[in-house]
Amino acid sequence: MVGRLEGKVVVVTGGGSGFGAGIATKFTQEGAKVIIADLAQENGAKVAQSLGCTFQKADVTKRADWEAVLKNAIDSFGGLDIIVNNAGATYSNKPTETVKDEDFDLCFHVNVRSVYLSSSVLLPYFLETKRPGCFIQIASTAGIRPRPGLTWYNASKAAVSNATKTMAVEFAPQKIRFNAVCPVVGSTGMTHLFLGKPDTEENRKAFVSTVPLGRGSTPKDVANACCYLASDEAEFITGVNLEVDGGRCV
Ligand SMILES: NC(=O)c1ccc[n+]([C@@H]2O[C@H](COP(=O)([O-])OP(=O)(O)OC[C@H]3O[C@@H](n4cnc5c(N)ncnc54)[C@H](O)[C@@H]3O)[C@@H](O)[C@H]2O)c1
Repeated sequence: MVGRLEGKVVVVTGGGSGFGAGIATKFTQEGAKVIIADLAQENGAKVAQSLGCTFQKADVTKRADWEAVLKNAIDSFGGLDIIVNNAGATYSNKPTETVKDEDFDLCFHVNVRSVYLSSSVLLPYFLETKRPGCFIQIASTAGIRPRPGLTWYNASKAAVSNATKTMAVEFAPQKIRFNAVCPVVGSTGMTHLFLGKPDTEENRKAFVSTVPLGRGSTPKDVANACCYLASDEAEFITGVNLEVDGGRCV
């Protein structure tokens, strides 16, 4: 059987953990050639080895690292088709007046500057080669229905969703698609920071009680949504914020 992403070359940032590892897994199963680009060497290399895909150490806040990722995709696989901007970061949930400059900078560097740099480095490539590039950003329900204690994380995700819509319209004539996936809380390496306490079923209860379908999101849920948006089935879909949230944002 031919996979839904057969032969596509994909970069998944932050693919060494959580949702990103789920996305790398699904995309590999669907026939894509995946490059996991992550700052975390050990995790990234481990996931890549288990999937038989490529790992490249990269900091998504650095232009030179994006240039190196593009070069690797071209040298190793002859080009690039899809980028999943999944790497993200937050400070621990806390009253907004206690947020430090470095907390703010972390959110806007890892969550927003990364998306800026991906477009700045990759768009010229897609435009020059006339490839119908596809950008998928992992934003969040936090950018759509924000809750207290994570003001600047929430705002960074809203910026991602907004930039995604702007670029979707700007580059529609060239058939370059931009979409965002907005998961509700799941259980990953970041969850204890969202909760401001340890990631236990008990501590997740308050969050999960607001989800109509009665559970948090999983890497599989997020990966399935990304797979659709990355596939040719979604050729007419651009500029959406696809909520993967069990009805949370209704
Ligand atoms: N977990 C949730 O509840 C939830 C909900 C909504 C959205 N999200 C978003 O999902 C995405 C994935 O996060 P996750 O929940 O899987 O967390 P995670 O901590 O398990 O994974 C994040 C990955 O990003 C990598 N990373 C961090 N900074 C980086 C950098 N500068 N350069 C390269 N890689 C970097 C980390 O090494 C890690 O592998 C994030 O954008 C996050 O904001 C998470």
